[in-house]
Amino acid sequence: MTHLPLTSLIVMAAAALGASSAAQAAQVEVLHYWTSGGEARSIAELKKTLAARGVNWKDFAVAGGAGENAATALKARVMSGGAPTAAQVKGPAIQEWGQEGVLANIDAVARSEKWDALLPPAVASIMKYKGSYVAAPVNVHRVNWLWVNPAVLKKAGATAPATLDEFFAAADKIKAAGMIAVAHGGQPWQDATLFESVALGVGGAGFYKQALVQLDPAALTGPVMIKTFDTLARIKTYIDRDSAGRDWNLATAMIINGKAGMQFMGDWAKGEFTAAGKQAGADFLCLPAPGTAAAYTFNIDSMLMFQKPGADDQKSQQVLASAIMSPQFQEVFSLNKGSIPVRAGVPKTRFDSCAQRSMADMDASSKAGSFVPSLAHNMAVGSAAQGAIMDVIARFMNSTMSSKDAVAALAKAARTK
Ligand code: GAL
Repeated sequence: MTHLPLTSLIVMAAAALGASSAAQAAQVEVLHYWTSGGEARSIAELKKTLAARGVNWKDFAVAGGAGENAATALKARVMSGGAPTAAQVKGPAIQEWGQEGVLANIDAVARSEKWDALLPPAVASIMKYKGSYVAAPVNVHRVNWLWVNPAVLKKAGATAPATLDEFFAAADKIKAAGMIAVAHGGQPWQDATLFESVALGVGGAGFYKQALVQLDPAALTGPVMIKTFDTLARIKTYIDRDSAGRDWNLATAMIINGKAGMQFMGDWAKGEFTAAGKQAGADFLCLPAPGTAAAYTFNIDSMLMFQKPGADDQKSQQVLASAIMSPQFQEVFSLNKGSIPVRAGVPKTRFDSCAQRSMADMDASSKAGSFVPSLAHNMAVGSAAQGAIMDVIARFMNSTMSSKDAVAALAKAARTK
C-alpha cells in the first residue's frame, strides 16, 4: 500500500464527507407527544406532507398527554446543545424559550406567504417573539367539551345535559343504571382540564379570565371559586375507582365502548372517535361542557423552531413551516385530530358537525369576548404558575381537602414565578 501525505488524506476525507452529506436527504427532527391512535394518524399526515416536499422526518416522540414529559425532554436536549429542528410548544412557553435566545427566525417564509393576513392577530402574536415569527400554528382545539355516548344515555333514561344541574341529573341516572357516569384519567393535566371547564361553567368567561388568566387573588379565593371546587368534589363521586393514572385516550375508549357515559375533554378526543370509525351526532355527541355554550377555551398547537447552524437545516425548517401552514395540511390534519384549521382559506365542507360548531362558536365567542385561553393546556399563564396551580387541583382531586383550603392554596400557587 502506498503511503499518502497527510494533506491528501485530509482532502480525500473531506471529499468523502461532502459526498455523503450531499447524498443525505434533507431532514427535520421534531419533538412531539402525539402518540394516541388519533394523534398518530394526524402526525402521519405531517410526515407525508414533508416527504412530498423532499424532507425526511426524524421522530422524537415522547409519550404523555398534554406534553409534560415532552417539555422535560426538550429542556434536557436544548441544555445539552442538541436542540431538535422543531418542537411542539405552545402559548406563553414560546416567550420563555425566546428569552433563552435559542429560537430560529422564520420571518422569511411567513412574509412571503403572508401569514399576518392569514392568521387572527391574537394567534399571530402568540407565534412571534419580539415581533418575529418563531413558531408555526397547526390548529385550534376547543377544550370545553363534554363527550357523550348517546346509547348509554338512552339505556339510563337520561337526556343530553346543557347545564350543570342537567349534568348531575344525567350522571345520577347513568350511575343508577350500573354504568360509569364520568370517564376520567387521574393525571394532573386531566384534572386541570376538568377543573377549568367546571370553573367556566360555574362562573362564566368573565370570572374565568379574572381568576385563571389574570390570576386575580379576589377571584381565586372568592365564592365562585369555592363553588367551583364544591362542584368538582361532587363530580369526583361519579368517577370510577380505577381512574388513577389512566391515560385520556383510555378514558375516551370507555365512552366509545359504552362502559361510561360522559367525558370532559378537549376535541383531540374526537380524533379517537374518528380513528374508531365513529360518527358525530350518531355514535357520539359533542356538547359544550355544561353551562359553557357561550364561551370557548382555546388551545392552539404550534411547532416552535430552534436555531440550527447548518444552511440545510435552516432550509428544512422553512419547508416544515410552510407545510404546516398549507391549506391542504391544515385540513387533513384537523380532520384526523379533531381540531379546526387555524388559518383562513381552508374549505369547511369536509368537517363534521362538531368541527362546524367549533368554527361557529370560535367566531361568536371572539366577538363576545368569551374566547379564552386554556389554563390546563399551557395557553393562559407562565409555566411556573401553571405547574403550581395544577399541583393544587391534583391534590384536591386526590384527597379530602376542603374547598376553602383549596382556594387558599390556589391563590398561593398563582404567585409562583
Ligand atoms: C393537548 C394538545 C393536543 C393533544 C392533547 C393530549 O395539550 O394541545 O394536541 O395532544 O394535549 O395529548
